[in-house]
Amino acid sequence: MFEYSKISVCFVLGVCSLVGGMPTDDEAAVVDSDVENSFAQRAWPEFPALTTAHVDGLRTALENVVPDAKLPSLVRLGFHDCAGGCDGCLDFDAPANGGLEPTVKLLDTLYRTVYQHQMSRADFWAWSALLAVEKTTINNNKACQEDDCRMPDLNFTYKWGRKDCRTSPRTAKGGNLPGATFKHSQTMEYFAAEFGLNERETIALMGAHTLGGAHKGNSGYSGNWVKGDETRLNNNYYKNLVETNTVWKQRAVTPTEKGKHWQLESEKGFLLLADIGLYKEVFPSSVDGRGVCEVGGNLACAPTSSADIVELYATDKDIWLQDFSAVMQRVVENKWSALNGAQRSVDLTPVTEEETEP
Ligand code: HEM
Repeated sequence: MFEYSKISVCFVLGVCSLVGGMPTDDEAAVVDSDVENSFAQRAWPEFPALTTAHVDGLRTALENVVPDAKLPSLVRLGFHDCAGGCDGCLDFDAPANGGLEPTVKLLDTLYRTVYQHQMSRADFWAWSALLAVEKTTINNNKACQEDDCRMPDLNFTYKWGRKDCRTSPRTAKGGNLPGATFKHSQTMEYFAAEFGLNERETIALMGAHTLGGAHKGNSGYSGNWVKGDETRLNNNYYKNLVETNTVWKQRAVTPTEKGKHWQLESEKGFLLLADIGLYKEVFPSSVDGRGVCEVGGNLACAPTSSADIVELYATDKDIWLQDFSAVMQRVVENKWSALNGAQRSVDLTPVTEEETEP
């Protein structure tokens, strides 16, 4: 993948000679180094205006280095970097960030070659996250022939001006991230305190878990949230939560280990306790961590105060995407109040074959 990336970045952008050549493998492994990244200590040129052309350029460049399967990871990276304030720095040793280091390395093949002269890593990661949302929405619409699955257009504003921490992309400060076994109240408290989100906004944001999945080696959990939609953004996460005919079984992914990693599985996909906790009052039992209810049987739990919002998003994909994109925009600006922006509307109408013919 790395060789492919090097070639395609140079080929597509034609800029390698302008910016000092492609990084060697050693240089690209910046996140393996304990040496502080000197670029993080210099000032970025004050661009009078990053424009939609810059966004389009990054979009093309990303398409050439990031395979579709990695798009979910860009969205996750955007969220993790912005917890505590977007600053282009992650603690790769923190268990909550498991699996993000290879993503940062992949992005750095592009960042260090081209974009470090234009924007901070924090801007670069934030833009990458928004572009990944766009691309996965486009993927969804390409795969969907009917109006009932087509997502509406997106309208992000690409803002810049975030500054990196001095040791970007690495930091030893673990970061404040949510727990996979959070019950409803904990999730709501976390997103209110960290991102200033209300209940509805928090529920909307969690729909990012339509994308991708969990990997035992990263988090201890294992599975894809919405089978078949790993790289397609839509509201099927909520549909899975409210679907009454689906049988969800609890399984401990690591039964012999302390955490056990209880999760719910069905033919539709998988859920963390924190996911089901948006809809049902579930919490981990103090005995073995299995999800239980205050009263009632295994997961026949009472609805949460957000249950009607989950049901709304399950039935109205347009309202959900509108809410989700507005909240995602805020997440990637967390703790920054005076950023400059280039607004960019994306028409997500799939291109028909006739239109692509010469
Ligand atoms: C209560 C809140 C949350 C919890 C407990 C949580 C937890 C997790 C866990 C355990 C993983 C699996 C990582 C792995 O094993 O590779 C994951 C993946 C993911 N998370 Fe979250 N997350 C939360 C909120 C969010 C939010 C707010 C976003 C984005 C806005 C997000 C986006 C993602 C994405 C896209 C993936 C898939 C990554 C991939 O496939 O590589 N998550 N999350």
